[in-house]
Amino acid sequence: MSLTVELALSERAAGRSIALRLAEVIAAKPAAVIGVATGSSPEPIYAALADLVRDGLDASQVTWFALDEYLGLPAAHPQSYRSVLERALIRPLGLDPASLHVPAGHPATADADAEAYERLIGEAQVDVQILGIGHNGHIGFNEPGTPFASTTHRAVLTSTTRKANARYFDSLDLVPRECLTQGIATIMRAGTLELIASGAEKAPAVARALRGPVSEDCPASVVNLHGSVRVTVDADAASLLSSIAS
Ligand code: F6R
Repeated sequence: MSLTVELALSERAAGRSIALRLAEVIAAKPAAVIGVATGSSPEPIYAALADLVRDGLDASQVTWFALDEYLGLPAAHPQSYRSVLERALIRPLGLDPASLHVPAGHPATADADAEAYERLIGEAQVDVQILGIGHNGHIGFNEPGTPFASTTHRAVLTSTTRKANARYFDSLDLVPRECLTQGIATIMRAGTLELIASGAEKAPAVARALRGPVSEDCPASVVNLHGSVRVTVDADAASLLSSIAS
């Protein structure tokens, strides 16, 4: 059982630190399977990975699995998570878009798509899963109250999450209301979890997740039950964790 909290000097340094660990995983296992998050938190990881690829890292055999996708946005919409990950990860690293799996975003077939995605991830076995954390403690789009036993499923976004993500859309009304997300049990099957958080606004969620109690009210608190977790935070995100991060 290991949960390590790493205090990084900056958001950029946090990203670089995780990217270096991913590079080690890829060097040891070129066909590694890596779970990827969207949102702003993991962007420094992908930027640092792109630098490492420029410096010679070969990530061409890696398979990537997204955590989640909005329901109702066409795949080509600039804010669909497929588009976001193609922009942030696939193109900068010069990878084949077919190496990236993202849940489908079709409301009409969501339940069948969820089952198919769960099966695909189960067959692949994720080596490392990158996670951000929502202000309400969500991981993936598993909002508070989601059962720890959940697998990939259709979910309704809370108004907190929709408001937080409205920055990527022209108005709050345009933020999708539903998504397909890996479940908490799906995430917990990954070999290692790498959670990244930065900024003071994430401090309460990080503290609740790491200090406990472990509860479905704070989905990220489940990481305490995983055998291999690394939480990389900047000083602001760690500010309510003093006794843990010191
Ligand atoms: C995104 C995801 C979410 C985000 C979380 C934090 O794929 O699954 O859990 O990681 O909402 O988002 P940011 O990083 O934008 O604050």
